Amino acid sequence: MTEKSKQAGVGATPILDVRDLVVRYGQRTAVDNVSLEIRRGEIFGLLGPNGAGKTSTLSAIEGLVKPSGGTVSVDGIDIQRDPLAAKARLGVQLQASSFQSELAIEQIVRLYAGLYGVSMTKQQIADRIRTIGLDGELGKRFKSLSGGQQQRLSLLIAVIHEPVLLLLDEPTAGLDPQSRRQLWDRIENLRTAGGSILLTTHSMEEAEAVCDRVAIIDHGKLLTVDTPAGLIAQHRNDPRVTKVARGKITLEDVFIGLTGSEIRD
Ligand SMILES: Nc1ncnc2c1ncn2[C@@H]1O[C@H](COP(=O)(O)OP(=O)(O)O)[C@@H](O)[C@H]1O
Ligand SMILES: [Mg+2]
Repeated sequence: MTEKSKQAGVGATPILDVRDLVVRYGQRTAVDNVSLEIRRGEIFGLLGPNGAGKTSTLSAIEGLVKPSGGTVSVDGIDIQRDPLAAKARLGVQLQASSFQSELAIEQIVRLYAGLYGVSMTKQQIADRIRTIGLDGELGKRFKSLSGGQQQRLSLLIAVIHEPVLLLLDEPTAGLDPQSRRQLWDRIENLRTAGGSILLTTHSMEEAEAVCDRVAIIDHGKLLTVDTPAGLIAQHRNDPRVTKVARGKITLEDVFIGLTGSEIRD
């Protein structure tokens, strides 16, 4: 490989390599042979209706559920063979994440820094908390924070050990437009600082605004992967898509066309 192609990431190991992943809960197959690659520096969106298998896919990558089949490598490290080294490279923000609700913000940050083996002084902790605009609230309890504040704190903790890959499960669910915009900016900044991000969402707007590439998943199966514009170009003449379109084909038309119109709970 030439120095130039190395810099461009051409031929480099993907930051995340998921091959033929299968996750089963008893008889139910939640993830059905999913393969995907996330490139270094990429913001990748996993888009799918409720119950599609998004959280189960992330849980398998995080090592929270044991896959029934397939392999997952983070930064070239197989998560089954070397789970500790793989997990040390991951930052994780769970869906509807909630911390020990009685602890104060400062205590929570200190606790998680300790768990991740990151040593931080009191001043460094205060500085970090300032970056999420909570410096006046060091002693406040997690449960008394607003949704947006809780979200910012849980993102701060997810990246406290400077992971190379950040996994965010519906990070903007329930946020107001201001907080959502701010989170998009934070995600963009993490990428600029050298991170790669895999997020799940069912917001087309979010997928188009922040994701370089998007995969649509449903019933545990990966239906298609491309840039948001590429997905529209790829599926614009699909009769399932043209049937649901109300004018110019949008990403939402592609999504509804491929996943169907019935409501999922
Ligand atoms: N712990 C579990 N036990 C049994 N079934 C589960 C469990 N978690 C998820 N499922 C089922 O697996 C499927 C995929 O769920 P999930 O991965 O949470 O989807 P999504 O995050 O896309 O909404 C759904 O049918 C869901 O009901
Ligand atoms: Mg989910």
